[in-house]
Amino acid sequence: MSSSGTVLVTGGTGTTGSRVARGLRDEGVAVRIATRKPNEADPEHVRFDWADPSTHAPVLEGVERVYLVAPIGVAAPEPMVEPFLAMALSAGVRRVVLLSSSAVDEGAPGPGALHRMVRRTVPEWTVLRPSWFMQNFLGDHPVGAGIRTSGEIVTATGQGRVAFVDPADIAAVAVRALADTVSHDTAHVITGPEPLSYADAAAVVSRVTGRKVRHRSVGVAELVSRLVSGGVPEEFATLLAGLDADIRDGGQEWVTTTVSDLTGRPARSFAEFVRAHRDHF
Ligand SMILES: NC(=O)c1ccc[n+]([C@@H]2O[C@H](COP(=O)([O-])OP(=O)(O)OC[C@H]3O[C@@H](n4cnc5c(N)ncnc54)[C@H](OP(=O)(O)O)[C@@H]3O)[C@@H](O)[C@H]2O)c1
Repeated sequence: MSSSGTVLVTGGTGTTGSRVARGLRDEGVAVRIATRKPNEADPEHVRFDWADPSTHAPVLEGVERVYLVAPIGVAAPEPMVEPFLAMALSAGVRRVVLLSSSAVDEGAPGPGALHRMVRRTVPEWTVLRPSWFMQNFLGDHPVGAGIRTSGEIVTATGQGRVAFVDPADIAAVAVRALADTVSHDTAHVITGPEPLSYADAAAVVSRVTGRKVRHRSVGVAELVSRLVSGGVPEEFATLLAGLDADIRDGGQEWVTTTVSDLTGRPARSFAEFVRAHRDHF
């Protein structure tokens, strides 16, 4: 890509965006970090809020490519994203790399509608469809919070398995899609190396950290009410619990070679991830 082209990283302070920005910098690509709370001392930071259209045009000046993370926790993000995308294209953006999900097909509500929009309207496009993040086992995600507070992971996934993926591997794929000279013009399903049930994952955490962690599977309705009582809006809680049901029914057991195909190194295993983050548990 031309040395003058800047990549706008939306969600640039988040789990994938912060890693995408780091990877691009390492390749000498100029980045602009979009955030609602810019650090005034950081020249890469720009104020950007999906809910405040007055912040949209300024962040696009001189931008050639965009890493697109849709508004978080919004079941139908199209009304916010569509005008921004149109503005970006008329401001000279040629390439967009959209973060979606392995669980969401093109055209499905929410991220699937954005997938279709990007494929149809952006000259150079890639859609990233990662599996469930290993990072969910840390921090404030319900899985991580459950481990921290009670040593228990509660899902509606039964014995279903999913090939959890390290966000660092998602970011490495995103960096290729953003920085490669030739646009990928495809959707990449990105997974870790092996499907695991949450009981398998709990056993790995217990073995590696020495802290006893167990998995309890509940019904979809019970999971929705647990999420709602934890502050998740009901519409979004229903969507998340539906994704668990898909895992339970075997819909997310697939493993792809996207990480090794595009980065030349294998995807990180869940045990390696837990070892690397042992202190967080
Ligand atoms: N977790 C999973 O297992 C999983 C699996 C597949 C796909 N996904 C997808 O990944 C997405 C999350 O990506 P992520 O984990 O990289 O992000 P994240 O860590 O959840 O971070 C959210 C980012 O979005 C920014 N943000 C939040 N609200 C905003 C707003 N109103 N305007 C502008 N920026 C806003 C935040 O920036 P500031 O706070 O600095 O403004 C932050 O940088 C989800 O939407 C989901 O669809 C997740």
